[in-house]
Amino acid sequence: MKADLIIKNIDNLITLRGPNRARVKEEMREIDLIKNGIIAIKGDKIIYVGEDKLPKDIQTDGNTIFIDGKGKTVTPGLVDSHTHLVHGGSREHELAMKLKGAGYLEILEAGGGIHSTVKATREATFDELYRKAKKSLDRMLGYGVTTVEAKSGYGLDDFNTEIKQMEVAKKLNEDHHVDIVSTFMGAHAIPSSYKDNPRKFIDLIIGEMIPEVEKKKLAKFCDVFCEKGVFTVEDSREILEAGLKHGLLPKVHADEIESLGGAELAAEVGCITADHLVAASDKGIGMMAEKGVIANLLPATSFNLQTGKFAKAKKMIEEGVPVALSTDYNPGSCPTENMQLVMSFASIIMKLTPEEVITAATINGAASLKLEDKIGSIEPGKKADLTIFDAPNLDYIIYHFGINHTDKVIKNGEIAFERFSNIL
Ligand code: NIG
Ligand code: FE
Repeated sequence: MKADLIIKNIDNLITLRGPNRARVKEEMREIDLIKNGIIAIKGDKIIYVGEDKLPKDIQTDGNTIFIDGKGKTVTPGLVDSHTHLVHGGSREHELAMKLKGAGYLEILEAGGGIHSTVKATREATFDELYRKAKKSLDRMLGYGVTTVEAKSGYGLDDFNTEIKQMEVAKKLNEDHHVDIVSTFMGAHAIPSSYKDNPRKFIDLIIGEMIPEVEKKKLAKFCDVFCEKGVFTVEDSREILEAGLKHGLLPKVHADEIESLGGAELAAEVGCITADHLVAASDKGIGMMAEKGVIANLLPATSFNLQTGKFAKAKKMIEEGVPVALSTDYNPGSCPTENMQLVMSFASIIMKLTPEEVITAATINGAASLKLEDKIGSIEPGKKADLTIFDAPNLDYIIYHFGINHTDKVIKNGEIAFERFSNIL
């Protein structure tokens, strides 16, 4: 077989080879590190992974591209499995409020927060949303991310805006190197016009929006913000179960600020992921472990909310909950596209080892999007989605924090990003 692209002499090749499912407990530390590694790619697939040299049955010719991996660390392309990629406007004015001690839910309750982004997103045209989201997606790719999840949720009862957001995600998925997986999150806040009658809004989501999302094939997942003053556990259960009936897999923003029982709900409904979980109860964590619900943790959000509270990531791993990591990129609680910073926070603040971190940011992220059989590890048959870091080892990427270590990103077998300077 002839290879189109070879990466050789890789100082540290982290393959994450193993079962095509979210990894748990000590599996999260088994990253399969190959020294002096070599990878062969044909088309958009990996055809060989090993040490030193290619076997005889893999040939090269004048058209084969060679990349030298000396001094580099190569990992599967990073997966950012929780973002609010498509939205209008920004919320830097909330910084001053937060510095004065205003809480996230307080700002939301006062009609700011998500509501101000809802206004900006409703007012934005398709092209404006597309251009803004594309800029973020370019940035994400630059940080080594090859697959991104994108939620709606800034249209709320204005269903056309919800659809507009999902159609922007769909078009970007077609146009951009990075793959986008779409999530319908109409249940992101109670719209002002339904403040006194949230039941009516829930009926609208269940009766009209979810069936239409299914019909138009706009999303793979359904998500709900289960939080005090937003959607109750019972509201969330109803919405997620309605989504399931219409082929949308459940995810939930659970126990982000208050301990409501979101983790328990995620286990009962059979959510693919429960996200945030800063205030998750021990019982909820145990139930998630039993049901194999992935904990999608978002430490950059905790950092930005200035509460000093982070999810109990170590305990979750010990208890057997598979852990994933994401940016939660959004204009309010987490305005950053930088997955590498999230990885550093996960280690420096939440105390995950670099091995647990890279597992959480690759194969467990892939499983969070139900793509574990296609991406998330470097092995023959999987998509050729790889990140080449200008770093001598994995620990270095996490330790030297806040900067971008990406040298090149290979997406679907092509060089999708290449750094042009050594001092970035
Ligand atoms: O995941 N918590 C709810 N949703 C987002 C924030 C969205 C926003 O503030 O605009 C989150 O943190
Ligand atoms: Fe979120």
